Amino acid sequence: MPRYRRPSAISDPATFAFQAPGAQRGLMMGALVLALLIFALDLAQANNGQAYGVAYVVVVLVGLWITTPAYPLLAAAGVTGLLMIDLAYGWNDHLPEAIFVNYPLITALLWTTAAVVVRFKRLEGRSQADVQRLAELTAALDEAAIVATTDVAGRITDVNQKFCDISQYARGELLGQDHRIINSGLHPPDFFKGLWQTIASGQVWQGEIRNKAKDGSWYWVDTTIVPFLNDAGRPYQYIAIRHDITARKRGEEQLRHQEALARVGQLAAMVAHEVKNPLAGIKGALQVIMSRRPAGDPEVPVMRDIIDRADALNELISDLLFYSRPKPPQPSPLDLHSLLNESLALLKRDPIGQTIATSMTGPEITIAADRNMLRGVFANLFINAAQAMQGSGAIDVSICLDGDLVQVTIRDTGPGIPEHIRDQIFEPFFTTKSRGGGLGLAIARRSAELHGGSLSLESPVGGGAVATITLPLTPRPPQAS
Ligand SMILES: Nc1ncnc2c1ncn2[C@@H]1O[C@H](COP(=O)(O)OP(=O)(O)OP(=O)(O)O)[C@@H](O)[C@H]1O
Ligand SMILES: [Mg+2]
Repeated sequence: MPRYRRPSAISDPATFAFQAPGAQRGLMMGALVLALLIFALDLAQANNGQAYGVAYVVVVLVGLWITTPAYPLLAAAGVTGLLMIDLAYGWNDHLPEAIFVNYPLITALLWTTAAVVVRFKRLEGRSQADVQRLAELTAALDEAAIVATTDVAGRITDVNQKFCDISQYARGELLGQDHRIINSGLHPPDFFKGLWQTIASGQVWQGEIRNKAKDGSWYWVDTTIVPFLNDAGRPYQYIAIRHDITARKRGEEQLRHQEALARVGQLAAMVAHEVKNPLAGIKGALQVIMSRRPAGDPEVPVMRDIIDRADALNELISDLLFYSRPKPPQPSPLDLHSLLNESLALLKRDPIGQTIATSMTGPEITIAADRNMLRGVFANLFINAAQAMQGSGAIDVSICLDGDLVQVTIRDTGPGIPEHIRDQIFEPFFTTKSRGGGLGLAIARRSAELHGGSLSLESPVGGGAVATITLPLTPRPPQAS
């Protein structure tokens, strides 16, 4: 648990210096010496019309810097006493005006000054307590929340350390920017329009926002934005207080994913049971009929088409079963180049992949992995790339070794992934294709993760899509995502 020094509300260094016990003693001694000096001068100049006595005011005024609350009144009483002694001592030498005008006036001046100093000290104490309380509240808030202040134009005018920590930007990089710097692109423009309309009309806005940190990772914040209004009722600044809810959001997402998986699992098991066997029967029967047909029979291609469709259906059911109840990988030593070549051969067999130019670079590496599983992963990524390029373009595969991790990068020259679907492409059943099952990427990522690796698909600025698969040289337990 971190411990905190009491935040100081006093920002003036001179006030600080005077508060030191040594300085306080010095001030009191100085005031005493001054009072005695004035007293001595007064005694020596009995008929000067009491001009020196006025200087006692300084002794009382020193109370402005002395922390003892009773000082001004004690000082006023003390110097009044000295005045009285002086008055008694030189009663016969004093002029009547001095006795009846100057002495009363000076005494009144001293006590008025003392009263003013007491009042000032009381007000100062109160405002210092307020400022102190404010400083403590700010320190507590800074510890508990992510805080940012913006001007009416939405420019950031202040951020606390938590804001810098979570966004990974330095304070200097944030000041003067607007919040677009951390926009993750998830929320549609209408979302922010509504937010601005609310706060610009002077109302508090509350909601959950997904933001993007400097390294591109995202984080969720529960946000409250409070507008501060001027005398005309218009906002002059906004203070946003946020709380990190990324862990909760991740948990919710995982829960949704698991629920979806459980549903898929039930569905897959049911479909497999009800459909797989009849499908095998239909395929077998068709094959028997086909074998009885004379060569060149025009019905044969139709039957082959039916068999192809039955195979595709069978594959989808197998995908569903694999996705919902994946089997652990069966690793065996395999050469990555030959595995990738096998997957490229599968691509070339597909009509959409026949005219795609392919290239491969990188060292020969042998890894321990499940051959069938990885062949499926790569074939899926190649087919996706070929489909995105609509059969014409190039796929470039590069392999590199980083410690005990192998990285395979598959780059295509297609249109890339539209920004608005980037978050969804790995979700099961998400597809933009009329005949797509939407399980390709979900299964590919799951297969990579089962090997202890990862899969990402990005759209770089230069165009195209880049799939990056990382695999350990030997499978390790899947990493928590
Ligand atoms: N290389 C790519 N370039 C552009 N978009 C891509 C690329 N790869 C995948 N996508 C997008 O991601 C979506 C999901 O891909 P995924 O492989 O999971 O499903 P699918 O290809 O649509 O169907 P399935 O693979 O199950 O037949 C695709 O529909 C497509 O919109
Ligand atoms: Mg696919």
